[in-house]
Amino acid sequence: MPKYERTYITQANFILHGGDYNPDQWLDRPDLLQADLELMKLSHTNTFTIGVFAWSALEPEEGVYRFEWLDKVFDDIYRIGGRVILATPSGARPAWLSQKYPEVLRVNAARVRQLHGGRHNHCFTSSVYREKTQHINRLLAERYGDHPALLMWHVSNEYGGECHCNLCQEAFREWLKNRYNHDLDALNAAWWTSFWSHTYTDWSQIESPSPIGEHTIHGLNLDWKRFVTDQTISFFENEIVPLRELTPHIPITTNFMADTHDLIPFQGLDYSKFAKHLDVISWDAYPAWHNDWESTADLAMKVGFINDLYRSLKQQPFLLMECTPSLVNWHKVNKAKRPGMHFLSSMQMIAHGSDSILYFQWRKSRGAFEKLHGAVVDHDNRTDNRVFQEVSKVGKALEKMSGIVGTNRSAEVAILYDWENNWALNDAQGFATETKRYPQTLVQHYRPFWERDIPVDVITKEQDFSRYKLLIAPMLYLVSEETIARLKQFVGSGGTLVMTYISGMVNECDLAYLGGWHPDLRKTFGIEPIETDTLYPRDRNSVHYRGQSYELKDYATVIKVYTATVEGVYEDDFYAGTPAVTSNQYGKGQAYYIGGRLEDQFHRDFYQELMEKLDLRPVLFVKHGKGVSVQARQAPECDYVFIMNFTEEKQAVVVEEKVKDLFTGEEIEGEITLGKYEVRVVEKRR
Ligand code: GLA
Repeated sequence: MPKYERTYITQANFILHGGDYNPDQWLDRPDLLQADLELMKLSHTNTFTIGVFAWSALEPEEGVYRFEWLDKVFDDIYRIGGRVILATPSGARPAWLSQKYPEVLRVNAARVRQLHGGRHNHCFTSSVYREKTQHINRLLAERYGDHPALLMWHVSNEYGGECHCNLCQEAFREWLKNRYNHDLDALNAAWWTSFWSHTYTDWSQIESPSPIGEHTIHGLNLDWKRFVTDQTISFFENEIVPLRELTPHIPITTNFMADTHDLIPFQGLDYSKFAKHLDVISWDAYPAWHNDWESTADLAMKVGFINDLYRSLKQQPFLLMECTPSLVNWHKVNKAKRPGMHFLSSMQMIAHGSDSILYFQWRKSRGAFEKLHGAVVDHDNRTDNRVFQEVSKVGKALEKMSGIVGTNRSAEVAILYDWENNWALNDAQGFATETKRYPQTLVQHYRPFWERDIPVDVITKEQDFSRYKLLIAPMLYLVSEETIARLKQFVGSGGTLVMTYISGMVNECDLAYLGGWHPDLRKTFGIEPIETDTLYPRDRNSVHYRGQSYELKDYATVIKVYTATVEGVYEDDFYAGTPAVTSNQYGKGQAYYIGGRLEDQFHRDFYQELMEKLDLRPVLFVKHGKGVSVQARQAPECDYVFIMNFTEEKQAVVVEEKVKDLFTGEEIEGEITLGKYEVRVVEKRR
């Protein structure tokens, strides 16, 4: 049975609304800083992230500190009833620091040391940078740790990137010695270095991957990525020493990211590892709404997927740390959110588990890189423009939604996402360069559930599988024996598992499994994939399943059947008539294998059957057409359900149970009409 508990991830019992506030850019304009306080009230904002890039304002010269301006901002915000998320400033450093200590400057993969400039460009191994960041963080914690406005720590900003300097090379070698128990033969074996005569005879010969050097050893590439994650976490852990020591009661987060075009998880770091070091997950969402390559609904579905992943990392609410109230300045085309979209997209974030709507940024910068990036307060400093008005509207709505704070979503379906698998698959010299698309494939499997309003968790391999009825693990190319054993056990004890083509091929060292498919997978699925056929992008095949023909592209697996039942067969090519979709009873559960990349309609029909069989239900039954999404947060006493129209047309929907509109108190049952981008938030009593 699902547990409807609340987890307050901050001490606040209201939804945080506000965002990055950079008064350090306006210290010569006290009039504007004063005006901000009034504007904050008018915009119904309550929380401000301060100091993200304020190091130069805090320490203009080495050892010379200026905190008075920050003292005033803290006090002013507190006076108007607001709260502060205080950032540590390591995301960008003062010029004096780079000049005096060049070792803090990053060296790129081509071994070129970078000049001072930009941001997010420190060496994460440098003891100087570690010392300097820890010191300024200590001063911040000492000074503001007891300030009543302090709500949370925002450590650094969007950690990412890698450094290849000599300090990092040494640290990497130490990391490897640790991983391989100081046994160089074990490393050579794990990396298969006998290939092309790449055997290492001394640890000192090992270098990080480089375009001008070694980049063909997959095991090296994979371990380097693991090291980069661990070293970034180690840098972060060093940053937070004084915060944990002086402010143990203040939660810590850092803001995660996503790739923009397809909104897939950021690939530079394994967030499943990083998540364990954070008290709260937060992330920066910048979907390209109203783009010209997909429908609003398709993009909304991707937003749903990534939110469900970041929420599931800790199985608790998360924070939307940054979004734009209007447009960004770094997409290829920076289109403004159309009227209504800001409200709808904000409600979607809350629906998927966010306890905040925070912006980048509060006041638009006057100069430099982000002067054209959307902000709550524009250069005109006015409150009667569309963006300010839409922000205020969101703020007023959030003030009525505090009952939602701390509530979670409960799902009986999980999709498995694995960073290491994506790294290895992308690195694999094989298949097709353009069509691997692992995260996008997961979204394909997410679609039928999103369309039918069935909640999904997107989990990582170390999480508990047993709480789900259905586990979907597409394209799990890299999988350890340990995970294989856990998948087998999940099915054996009654779970339903779905796997697809390109799964179970290599172990955690990126070494192929020998002697055919792993025996545990063979037993669980009652089959063995014999050959993977990679198709050209315009090639098509099809699969006959339940009396219908479904289009197949990109990949098809030739399957040998042992104990499984054949559910679908290929219709063309040299494997025409052979098994394409199979199911197998193993122990108390069932394991399905989908051999090819099939069209969306196949997934709809395939999962529809499983939804019925496993009695998977939406939280609220609403009949609706394409592009409407119904998502819920679940409190002990009621469900908060968001009925959202992600289309440009009016949509008639039928609410099949009695609910109450959260904003108007109106009782709803039966047909209602949602306007373009309209959302209704309703309460369903238990
Ligand atoms: C990121 C950064 C912010 C800002 C925004 C602009 O998310 O964290 O500092 O640059 O992008 O969209």
